[in-house]
Amino acid sequence: MHILVTGAGGFIGHHLVNALVARGARVRGVDVKHPEYAPSQAHEFMLLDLRRREAAQEALADMDEVYMLAANMGGIGFIERRRGAGMAADIVHDNTLINLLTLEAAREAGVKRIFFASSACIYPQHLQQEADVTPLKEEDAWPSDPEDGYGHEKLYAECLCRFYREDYGLETRVARFHNIYGPLGTWDGGREKSPAAIARKVALAPDGGEVEVWGDGLQTRSYCYVSDCVEGILRLMRSDYAQPLNIGDDRLVTINELVDIVARLAGKRIRRRHDLTKAQGVRGRNSDNTRCEELLGWRPQVSLEQGMEQTYIWIEEQLRQAGRLA
Ligand SMILES: NC(=O)c1ccc[n+]([C@@H]2O[C@H](COP(=O)([O-])OP(=O)(O)OC[C@H]3O[C@@H](n4cnc5c(N)ncnc54)[C@H](O)[C@@H]3O)[C@@H](O)[C@H]2O)c1
Repeated sequence: MHILVTGAGGFIGHHLVNALVARGARVRGVDVKHPEYAPSQAHEFMLLDLRRREAAQEALADMDEVYMLAANMGGIGFIERRRGAGMAADIVHDNTLINLLTLEAAREAGVKRIFFASSACIYPQHLQQEADVTPLKEEDAWPSDPEDGYGHEKLYAECLCRFYREDYGLETRVARFHNIYGPLGTWDGGREKSPAAIARKVALAPDGGEVEVWGDGLQTRSYCYVSDCVEGILRLMRSDYAQPLNIGDDRLVTINELVDIVARLAGKRIRRRHDLTKAQGVRGRNSDNTRCEELLGWRPQVSLEQGMEQTYIWIEEQLRQAGRLA
């Protein structure tokens, strides 16, 4: 089986490549960059910009299956449109081209099955206005009211997958990821997500010091460790379920609780300083895993404490290597 992973230089793509190689697959990785923190274990790694048709055709040539993870994306500070400004034009432009050209090249190349990494950002914003939020079921996606920009594009790409399946018989599998975190993810520079940002801030703070928290910290999320995400992807890909499926944990925590968990793991007393001017995203978001458990006979296994411990240790090490921590 010849397998392509796009976005193989990124966080989840890199972990996915390693898992596929460990299971005996022959893997081609494609990205505009190599993985930043560890060499890829892909048998072949091509540097290609998938916004170009010829590049997508080159990437897809001779492949049996594809995992489509390449995207221009980041945490809420990167994707949120605030006061009418942000990166939406770039995000939607790039991701539209990447997803459309990858699907079309897959059709041309006779690929049998393709996985698409969608997002919880496709869910209607009006269902996420309370911290004590009702977990989001797959059918809640419509009528739609997604995250402005990034969420629109993901929802459109989900539809595109369905059209290619219905019109051309290309088997598509779609997962909606809910806040995936873990080692080897972006941890600095503006695209990092809350678990990595909080781990970095706590690692840099002295015992008894304070960390900045975006918003009042009472907003809620659920977080899924990357090894669980990869297991969910692999199970979904082997299933015969062609509709979008949540892949995420369903333990809801406030951002304040996440800070406290990390502080405990670090063995530090940490005070929180709230900055109400910073991006916060929706007020609450959680994953309803009923369908995932029914279909895949599985649920995420790694607790938030276990996963954040691994993440914290890794980010602390990155800070040391960067000379920012003694
Ligand atoms: N991490 C999460 O919590 C999360 C949540 C929901 C959805 N997702 C989706 O999962 C996928 C992987 O996310 P991630 O966290 O690993 O992000 P990431 O940013 O680490 O990985 C994405 C990769 O795509 C590559 N890429 C961007 N533009 C490209 C182009 N034009 N051609 C080729 N490669 C290009 C990037 O260089 C990067 O390495 C993305 O599609 C993302 O939208 C992630």
